[in-house]
Order: sequence, then C-alpha cells, then structure tokens
Amino acid sequence: MSIWHVTGGERLRGSLRIQGSKNAVLPVIAASLLCSSETELTNCPRLSDVEAAMDILRYLGCQAERDGDVLTIGSASPSRCDIPRDLMHRMRSSVIFLGPMLARFGEAHVSVPGGCELGPRPIDLHLQALRLLGAEIREEPGGIVCQAARLRGAEIPLTLPSVGATENAMIAACAAEGETVIYNAAREPEIETLQEYLRLLGAQISGAGSPVIRVNGFTPREHAGLRIPPDRIAAATYLCCTACAGGDVDLLDAEPDHMAPVLETLEAMGCAVTARPGHVHIGVSGRLRAPGAVVTRPYPGFPTDAAPLLMAACLKVTGPAVFIENIFSGRYRHAEELRRLGADITIRGPLAMVTGVESLHGANLTSPDLRGGAALVAAALGAEGPSLVYDDGHIRRGYDGLEESLRGLGAQIWCEGGERY
Ligand code: EPZ
Repeated sequence: MSIWHVTGGERLRGSLRIQGSKNAVLPVIAASLLCSSETELTNCPRLSDVEAAMDILRYLGCQAERDGDVLTIGSASPSRCDIPRDLMHRMRSSVIFLGPMLARFGEAHVSVPGGCELGPRPIDLHLQALRLLGAEIREEPGGIVCQAARLRGAEIPLTLPSVGATENAMIAACAAEGETVIYNAAREPEIETLQEYLRLLGAQISGAGSPVIRVNGFTPREHAGLRIPPDRIAAATYLCCTACAGGDVDLLDAEPDHMAPVLETLEAMGCAVTARPGHVHIGVSGRLRAPGAVVTRPYPGFPTDAAPLLMAACLKVTGPAVFIENIFSGRYRHAEELRRLGADITIRGPLAMVTGVESLHGANLTSPDLRGGAALVAAALGAEGPSLVYDDGHIRRGYDGLEESLRGLGAQIWCEGGERY
C-alpha cells in the first residue's frame, strides 16, 4: 500500500518530459516473443505492468533485462508455453500474450485474466479472432487451452474495435499462411506502434490507424530495435493536474496529434493550450468553465482513460459538466472519493453530472484503479489543505515518477511506501 501525501494550493510551473507509453510498450513486449533473437526497446517507462510483462517473458524462458529506460529481450529459445495464474493476474492485459504464444509455439495455456476495477474484462473477441485464424480453443474451469498446428490467414470482423483483440489478431496473423484482414480494427496510436515493430521484424502489414489492417504471414528476423512513443494518457494527466492547480506547464516529447479531443476540451474550458509536434504548453489562470458534454469513444474519440482526469479538472468550473462513458461499466469508481473533497457529482449509469463548486477541501481518499487514483491526486492538487490518497499499487501500474514530476513543477506531494520500478 502506498500513501500519497498531497497539499493543494500551489500553482504548477515548469516543464517535464512525458514517459514512454504503457499501452504501446506492453503489446510490443508480448510481440517480441516472435523475434528469433534479440529486441531492444528504448524510452520504456518504469511501471509495475512493464515488470509483470517482463516476468512473463522470463517465465517463458526468454532473457529480459532493463538498463535504465532500455529493455533488452532475448527470445532465441523460449522453453514454455504456459502462463500461471499468478502471473496472468499481475497485469490486467496479460491476455495479449495469447497471440504471440500461438504464433511462436503453436499452443498456449493461460488462466482467464481477472476482471478489474473497471468492470468485467471479457476476451470473447480475442478468442473469436484466434479461432478464425485456425486455433482450437478450449475454455476450462482453470483457464484456456489454445492449440494451432498451423494458423491460416482469415478475414476477422471485430464487432467492437477492441484494442487488445486487434493486437492479438495482428501478432497471431504474422504466423498464419496467407493474408489476414482485420475489419473494425482499433485505431489507437499504440496499434501503429505495434505495426511498426512487426514491420521491423519483417512483417508485411499495413492499415494500422485505420479500421482495416492487412497482415501477411512471415518468418521473423533476428533483431529489432524500437523507441517507444510518449504516453498520451500520461500527458493528458499532467495537463489536467495543471487545470486543477492552475499554472503554466510545458510537456516535452508529447504528441498533440494523439490527444486532440483532450486538448480541444481543455481549450473549451478556458485553458490556454499551444501545441506543436513533440511539445504541448498549457496556461491556466482564474476559474475554468464547464466543457460541452465529454463523451468517451474508441480512438480517435475522447479516450476513456483520460475521463477521470478531466472530471477532476471540472470540479470547480462554472456551470454543469456532463460525462458519458461508453467503454467501461466501472469507470466512475473515483466519483465517490472525489465527493469527499467536496465535489458535487451525480452518477446515473454511464452518465456523470458534475456541478462546479467554489472550492475543495483536503480529505483522506482511497484509489479505486489506475486512472481514478491519478484523478484523486490531481483533484487534491486543487483542494485547500492536505489530502492523503491510499493506493494499493494502482497508480504505479501506469505512471513513471508521477510524484517526482509533479514535485518538479512545484506541487507539494510525496509518496510513502510502495514499490519503485
Ligand atoms: C486497452 O484495454 C487499454 N489497455 C486500456 O487502457 C484502454 O482503456 C482500452 O484499451 C480502451 O479501449 C492497454 O492497452 C494495455 P478493449 P483493452 O479491448 O484492450 C470490450 C489504462 O488505463 N471487450 O479496447 O482491454 C471491453 O469490455 C487501460 O491504461 C469485449 O467485449 O480494451 C470494453 O468495454 C485501462 N470483448 C471495450 O470492449 C473483448 O474480447 C474496449 O475494450 C474485448 C473487449
């Protein structure tokens, strides 16, 4: 358990470099299982989810080393094709190893990944895609057994643009004979990073970032090296922290093209936002105003992961702010905690209505999940007096040095306990 000590009232000033993207590096770590010798990844964030993914590779018989922000993965001779329950449950998205294991070994034995704080995390679209590629999949009480003597190219129509299912299908299709076409593919920037990595391995793959992705089976090369792009949700987090506390902050190595809905919303609230490739500046002074309705959608829509942070930035606006969540049923668990700061929030199913208040006061809070925990820290920066955020490891799943970065901007914040990575 970590305890985040935050005392609000300080405006944020200065600049910080945005960490590498958690949701980009995790599927690439899984896909490195296809590489026949060594992968080197730079600009990798220090996160518990990244450590969990590296531990899975080590369990499978790969070498997986970290030196600063560089991960070096040796996948010449993996020796297992199963992932035990404890490893599967350490990282919510461990299901992303299914496609790589089928591609490399022709079989995979995993436990069903747990649901998480956001609600059930079904994997039916993942399994449907792998079955269309020729995998035989048995769902048993203890887990899932996948076998594929040979994978064959297929047409894969996804009923939802699932990020993880798109990634599993892309990777497994690399080992399939013939062409695979994924329809209604997720369009997130992380999908484009995975395509870039697979191309470095020699894949004929195109369409990432569009709803249709084409993959032709190939024999992976021995080596690949990739720099992980910046984390668009971490960048949105620091922008919303500034909106909560006020101030002038420059984000370096941020990609504005990956976060357009967030920048547009913050501007609509009265933040001064300027952006160019690799750089975003935000200036916040005076009371902000409520944005129009914030409706979460698959990329390029407003990202569900940034919604809790934007809700924190809306707690003291003039006028009512409306949020509509279309991705996860359990997205609003942080709302109850924000009320302890004096926030006025009403939840009706996927609808959240925030009525801005004049001021917030410090309180003791409990972090419900990764982005909800970060939202509590952000809101506490805009509250009068001290707050404590009790967090059971959620925040460090996705943020590399959150407290150091915020302290570097002038925030009064420190974190007691918990592991560092
Ligand atoms: C990825 O999760 C991200 N995680 C999430 O970020 C992000 O919120 C989500 O995509 C956005 O869609 C990583 O990339 C590691 P999905 P993923 O499959 O792939 C339903 C964070 O905070 N669904 O796109 O698990 C599902 O229930 C995390 O960094 C099925 O019904 O998300 C959800 O409602 C949180 N069946 C919707 O699709 C399936 O087989 C989108 O899920 C798969 C998904």
